[in-house]
Amino acid sequence: MTLQGRRVLVAISGGIAAYKCVELVRRLKDRQAQVRVLMTKAAQSFVGPLTFQAVSGEPVHTELLDPAAELGMGHIELARWAEFLLVAPTTANQMAHFALGVADDLLSTVWLAHAGQKIIAPAMNQQMWQAPAVQRNAALLQSDHVQIWGPGHGEQACGDVGPGRMLEPAELLNRLETLCFGKDLDGVRVVVTAGPTRERLDPVRYLSNFSSGKMGYALAQAFAQRGADVHLVSGPVQLSTPMGVHRIDVESALEMHTAVMSLALTADIFIATAAVADFRVDKMAQQKLKKNGAPGLMLNLVTNPDILADVAALEGTKRPFVVGFAAETEHLHQYGREKLERKRLDMIACNDVSVAGLGFGSDRNALLLLWNDGSCYLPEADKDQLAHQLVDHIIEKRQLGVQH
Ligand code: C5P
Repeated sequence: MTLQGRRVLVAISGGIAAYKCVELVRRLKDRQAQVRVLMTKAAQSFVGPLTFQAVSGEPVHTELLDPAAELGMGHIELARWAEFLLVAPTTANQMAHFALGVADDLLSTVWLAHAGQKIIAPAMNQQMWQAPAVQRNAALLQSDHVQIWGPGHGEQACGDVGPGRMLEPAELLNRLETLCFGKDLDGVRVVVTAGPTRERLDPVRYLSNFSSGKMGYALAQAFAQRGADVHLVSGPVQLSTPMGVHRIDVESALEMHTAVMSLALTADIFIATAAVADFRVDKMAQQKLKKNGAPGLMLNLVTNPDILADVAALEGTKRPFVVGFAAETEHLHQYGREKLERKRLDMIACNDVSVAGLGFGSDRNALLLLWNDGSCYLPEADKDQLAHQLVDHIIEKRQLGVQH
């Protein structure tokens, strides 16, 4: 819980992305951060202050000269209170105010009075973002040590496509968490596999599974947030690459095997979360397989290499600390321990995929961790939070020199 107790002032300026900040504030509260919300006049045309009051549980700050607020927390106190000032969305007009030091409303005044980390999440039409004046202001703000997060690229509310979308609340949250972490894993090399693999049958069909890749991506992100050098070997998934992570896209188990084996020799830690297909067809058809009135189709399948077992079999100093995953529907403890021993792993994280809403495809999970002479249960939580707990256990066991 890195954001627990941290004081975040979310300042909302006038853009349609203001509605997304309701979700941002809610997620910050979930992480037990202390959150205050400030809104400019223009922001209140998009979302009412009452909405933010409800999600933050605090009165929303809107006026520079508010007699009631001045008694308790005026603009200077508000600026002093905040560790992080996150302006989201940030309009071109606000950027100009910040760059020039104009102080003519509550937000621009708090901005000048705030001595902590200032962050802006720009959101505007793509042409506006690319305008020389806006780019000049962005450069000025950067030289003032303001963090500029985004904008993202994509379709805009006005119908244009290009750079100017505010980053999604989940991404803003991740970046805030990253700021809060100490970089205790600087220099540690980590390789993670994630997602499903696809085994082609013919040019248009494949064998695969329902893995979403979320657990592996959450782990890659958690390691990167703590300063590790992370390579993520990923099957086809619908997820964006976590900040600072090197992603290598692969399709089949054989491709994943090749990519992993070339990285594993220099890795300190290897974690296999991928749901690798156990089998592939011995020979992919060069042309689309036709029905031709046949009553069925026989596929000749051959076994794929076990990537995890092959990394665990590396000898001597080249062998990383090896962590496997096991998805089981029963006898979690027994099957997990068998797999730990058979594949010669240092640790295994087992999840019960028979529980609805956990594991495969879900945002939440619960894990039973097993190592040679111990075990530990990580109860149900968001995969992001669980990933950080798992990182802590892996680091501790690796330092203790736990052996398979
Ligand atoms: O044997 P099983 O497939 O249940 O083992 C699951 C673990 O092994 C996971 O960590 C998975 O990523 C890894 N695995 C692998 N290569 C395979 C099959 C599984 O790395 N071919």
